[in-house]
Amino acid sequence: MLRRSFLAALAATALAAGSVPAAAQETVKIGLIIPLTGPFTTTGKQLEAAARLYMQQNGTTVAGKKIELIVRDDAGRAENTARIAGELIQNDKVSFLAGFGLTPLAMATAPIATNSKIPMVVMMAGTSIITERSPYIVRTSFTLGQSAVIIADWAAQNKIKKVVTLVTDYAPGHDAEKSFVDQFKSKGGETVESLRVPIQNPDFAPFLQRVLDAKPDALYVFTPSGVGAILMKQFVERGLDKSGIRLIGPGDITDDDVLPGFGDAAIGVVTAHNYSTDHPSAKNKEYVAAFKKANPGMRPNFASVGGYDGIHLIYEALKKTGGKTDGDALLTAMKGHKWESPRGPISIDPETRDIVQTIYIRRVEKKNGELYNVEFASFPDVKDPVKAQKK
Ligand code: DHB
Repeated sequence: MLRRSFLAALAATALAAGSVPAAAQETVKIGLIIPLTGPFTTTGKQLEAAARLYMQQNGTTVAGKKIELIVRDDAGRAENTARIAGELIQNDKVSFLAGFGLTPLAMATAPIATNSKIPMVVMMAGTSIITERSPYIVRTSFTLGQSAVIIADWAAQNKIKKVVTLVTDYAPGHDAEKSFVDQFKSKGGETVESLRVPIQNPDFAPFLQRVLDAKPDALYVFTPSGVGAILMKQFVERGLDKSGIRLIGPGDITDDDVLPGFGDAAIGVVTAHNYSTDHPSAKNKEYVAAFKKANPGMRPNFASVGGYDGIHLIYEALKKTGGKTDGDALLTAMKGHKWESPRGPISIDPETRDIVQTIYIRRVEKKNGELYNVEFASFPDVKDPVKAQKK
């Protein structure tokens, strides 16, 4: 009896003070679905590390709500991603779906976001069409077209006339190929061959032999994050590093996560991308230091900033809605949001819900004994060129 009246008094005091007792504080859950096993584990690890870092730095209370991150492994398999998304909505009552380390994983989940009206934050997958698959999708990563067009222009301006393209054979590879080939052609360049390598157990060796025979000025390559390590090894084994054929591409091939293991043959590889560990802003220096401190032995790559910025966008949207988790209100809050990321200034295009960001051209160089993508040119406010062309 005594205890009950004490609790009632406590609750009354809390109400009078306009605050909610801790036990009754409502929780907003974010379901982070990422590959933590299988061939794309490094992507999942980067996304999780960055999401946790953001929450550690910014606290877990937003607009009076307690934020909880639920991390689930989809092993990079689309059927898992969609099933887990359904479970997170039904059982855990999440207010956000986030992650999506590969295009097929995002595509499989898009109808679930539409039906449930739950915001789906794509933190890694890069195929243009993803954001068109649901009005509840926003993207904090990149599209392949953003980098492909910039590196095509650079190639055309730097005595590269004849190119062979080699891409992983699935949607982002097809985007990376088409955006490059079309842009390079429009600038007078010629693509003599377009090769595609399977996504499962990729073996570049037979393709690289054909590249040697075709003798292009450059080989343009897209592989998903992490796979660049296999490509680089085979590039050297086949002697392409001594052939005078330059290696270029979107920055996925010189992924900062695996670049330190590439060896000096990678020095001079030129790519275009949205993020480099070496990006020289104060914000990024702070980010890299905090990330390394929280994750010894790892360095943050472009997946990580997609995760870090994705959680930032969720926090800011909740602040704008005053903690309301209505999907339409959250989408409205996210559209047009602008902020400074470790990668530079970024925003969410209010029309397409896709990311607008600076794309940098970078050259692999050795600094203090470690390989980095060193930026030497930048192109601000780049939108997805594939969607821009459809208009
Ligand atoms: C995708 C995955 C990657 O690891 C990457 O670097 C680019 C695109 C994708 O599946 O969309």
